[in-house]
Amino acid sequence: MFQKPKVKNMGPKVRSCLDNLAVYQPGKPIEEVKRELGLTDIVKMASNENPLGPSPRAIAAVTGAAQAVNFYPDGSAYRLRQSLAARFSVDPASVLIGNGSNELVQMLALALLEPGDKVVMPVPTFPRYEPLARMMNAVPIEVPLKDFRMDIEAMVERVGPATKIIYLCNPNNPTGAIASRREADRLFERVGSGTLVVFDEAYYEYVTSPDYPDGLDYLKQGFNTFVLRTFSKLYGLAGLRVGYGIGPPQLVDYLNRVREPFNVNSLAQEAALAALEDENFVRLTRETNEAGKKYLYEAFAARGINYVPTEANFIFFDSGRDEKAVFHQMLKEGVIIRGGFGLPSHLRVTIGTPAQNARFLAALDKVLAS
Ligand SMILES: Cc1ncc(COP(=O)(O)O)c(C=O)c1O
Repeated sequence: MFQKPKVKNMGPKVRSCLDNLAVYQPGKPIEEVKRELGLTDIVKMASNENPLGPSPRAIAAVTGAAQAVNFYPDGSAYRLRQSLAARFSVDPASVLIGNGSNELVQMLALALLEPGDKVVMPVPTFPRYEPLARMMNAVPIEVPLKDFRMDIEAMVERVGPATKIIYLCNPNNPTGAIASRREADRLFERVGSGTLVVFDEAYYEYVTSPDYPDGLDYLKQGFNTFVLRTFSKLYGLAGLRVGYGIGPPQLVDYLNRVREPFNVNSLAQEAALAALEDENFVRLTRETNEAGKKYLYEAFAARGINYVPTEANFIFFDSGRDEKAVFHQMLKEGVIIRGGFGLPSHLRVTIGTPAQNARFLAALDKVLAS
């Protein structure tokens, strides 16, 4: 018979660094909004996903590979690493595949951070660098943006002997602005080789600025740097979770020691291989993004709404109202965007298809007129 325990369970004895961590809040899923608000027709422009869907070639590859999911995936993702290495003219030993680039941020924290180490990052930025530093009992140093751009000078000033990692989110999420090549050059002039410079280039394939510093150029010059990219954005595979990192082989060897043995599933590996080769889809995605960007810029300008010019597939704009209220009112109109970046009136919208962009604007007009 069930016996009541004599000693009351006082809850799990977790590491104290977890006490002040929040659960990650992703962009609201469509199904959740349908359930909560009783709406049926929703557009999600909240997580910078590809509005065109996945690459058709990737869908075909997943369908074919489904026959073999009784086998474990190739833990080393050999073919995908070979393909990326050939594409970027790097040693396959310098390429590491992650369950999304998110997992690579986690592996970097696990492999590099001792308690008390410092991690320099901009704020606001992609919201995983900071909690992962805390999880390792390291100290995140958040350097505010200046005019919506990463303040590279101020970031470099904060680098000291205990700084293990400096994160450049380039283009930065949520603003879409980039650090220039000159700024990146300056950074490497001043940061010693004891600090790993991580370029998070999740939106790399969308960038059009000739002034964009490609993190791989610095890696090839021998700097202590690691470049993160993903199949979640332009390649349309966010749901499969696959990203990659390129860095010095010695570092990649250590990262492999903390990697889960089968971290990237076989469908994701096949889809990524196919998506890389799907030039038509890549071109169409870029064209759709550029056209949507132009359309939204003009629409914002016509309404007197300030926005940050973007090098990515999203736009950071100033609603002029309380961002939380705008977010919730937009939800009621069936349009999911993203706020909560610590600025009173700014929100981020993913550039969508022409129909989605028009729907977003119609909803925004209604919300701002109310
Ligand atoms: C800057 C940046 N880095 C990394 C990621 C993580 O992407 P994933 O784990 O899907 O590759 C995102 C996703 O939003 C991002 O915006």
